[in-house]
Amino acid sequence: MDFELKTLTLHQAAGLAADALILLWSDRAGQTSAGPGDPLTLWARGAVADKDIESAVGSCLLAHRLPGVQPRRLALVRTGEGSGASIRKAVTAAMKALAGDAVKRLVLVAGDAEAAAVSAAVQAVAETSYRYVATKSQAKPRVLQKVVVGVADAAAVRQAFDQGVAVAHGVELAREWANRPGNHATPTMLAQAARQLGKLPGMSVEVLGPKEVAKLGMGAFMAVAQGSSEPLRFIVLKYQGAAKSSAPVVLVGKGITFDTGGISLKPAPEMDEMKFDMGGAASVLGTFAALAKLRPALNVVGLIPTCENMPDGRAVKPGDVVTSMSGQTIEVLNTDAEGRLILCDALTYAQRFKPRALIDVATLTGACVIALGGVRAGLFANRDDLAQHLFEAGEAALDPCWRMPLDDEYAEGLKSHFADMGNVAGRQAGAVTAAKFLEKFVGDHAWAHLDIAGVAWKGGASKGATGRPVPLLLRYLLDEADRLALQLRPTPKAVGAKPVRKR
Ligand code: BES
Ligand code: MN
Ligand code: ZN
Repeated sequence: MDFELKTLTLHQAAGLAADALILLWSDRAGQTSAGPGDPLTLWARGAVADKDIESAVGSCLLAHRLPGVQPRRLALVRTGEGSGASIRKAVTAAMKALAGDAVKRLVLVAGDAEAAAVSAAVQAVAETSYRYVATKSQAKPRVLQKVVVGVADAAAVRQAFDQGVAVAHGVELAREWANRPGNHATPTMLAQAARQLGKLPGMSVEVLGPKEVAKLGMGAFMAVAQGSSEPLRFIVLKYQGAAKSSAPVVLVGKGITFDTGGISLKPAPEMDEMKFDMGGAASVLGTFAALAKLRPALNVVGLIPTCENMPDGRAVKPGDVVTSMSGQTIEVLNTDAEGRLILCDALTYAQRFKPRALIDVATLTGACVIALGGVRAGLFANRDDLAQHLFEAGEAALDPCWRMPLDDEYAEGLKSHFADMGNVAGRQAGAVTAAKFLEKFVGDHAWAHLDIAGVAWKGGASKGATGRPVPLLLRYLLDEADRLALQLRPTPKAVGAKPVRKR
């Protein structure tokens, strides 16, 4: 799918050859839209004035073959005050209203929309037109091929538009890989996908197998993988956008391609959803795909420990003690708490990069789903500024998270009689105790953990991966590149200055 940004009046947009036109109508559009004599503007104003369209955000009025309008179908949609969130809701509603139609070419008129709103509009079009087809023999792939976004001043929103297109691309890659069933998204296949990304400019990829991982001493990671006949992979992605000496942000994504629970077997209902247990890994891949498009001046490393968690004659058993790469021993009291076991060795490995920030992303605990549901991801951090930056990135990207505590008292339950720690604490505060476990492997580094168990996929009627938190991660990395640029500025004038980039 191809997006194009153009400076267009409504009159010009109406003259384009396309199958459908979406006209975003904010509460101020009635006064400010150019071209008082243009028939489409008059039509829309009339519909609003006559209350033939409700004022609520997302309300739609469909029209068919309006005189003077080239696209056969037209959707007028209300966007309220025009915030990013409202635009997303409105565009999603308009896309649903137009669905069923064979819309190959779409014109989306955003008029005087602000930069953040243009980015949100692009992402909403991409999100609603995505179709999962990889393992369906009859399904039609996405129909939509071309989207022209018309605005009053293309130059003013160009950067936000480019970022929206890049995020949409990254989200889609993450959704696609997370949606694929366990037998179509094995650790080996994920590594292949990473290798493809490694061919893009600025990127490199290295894939370690069982031998190399054993040599590194990743005993916790190996313990999880040992019950499966699929060999584990440890994927190392690198994006270089700054000087070689510049400390990278390291992203770590949980890549359990299927989580049966192991010997601590999960119950059957909804176990299929555990194919999404590599959502963290998928979001790291998606973020790298977006980085390749935007090329920010920052170094980023992506680490993906990936394997299956299976019960087997050779599987790790409750009570087994394993030695992590850090040297710390772990009593595996519950084999279903496997995410932390693969992440802890990746976090130890990450230290060699002396990261400016170390961020892991994982579908880690059912407890986080209970705490925060599907709205906000759980955010844990050992530095206030890092927590604040990630929180703000989530707000700006409409991909929100919420900070959770890390008091040392929460680590009490991890004590073990037979090892340096157990891999589970009690039932209480399960998302926090999981984070406390991870914290034991990050040394003094600035570290954050995003528990995305509630937000990485949806169940029920709209079952499928969401691509979250690619928008949050990318927003954070772009902001981090700005902060780095400010630090590198030679004059002390930088104090108190704000980055010039618009959102
Ligand atoms: N992948 C699951 C977490 C999960 C559960 C995500 C449900 C989304 C929905 C993880 O590996 C797991 O099984 N965690 C256990 C930990 C427990 C044994 C301490 C859990 O949350 O039940
Ligand atoms: Mn599990
Ligand atoms: Zn899991």
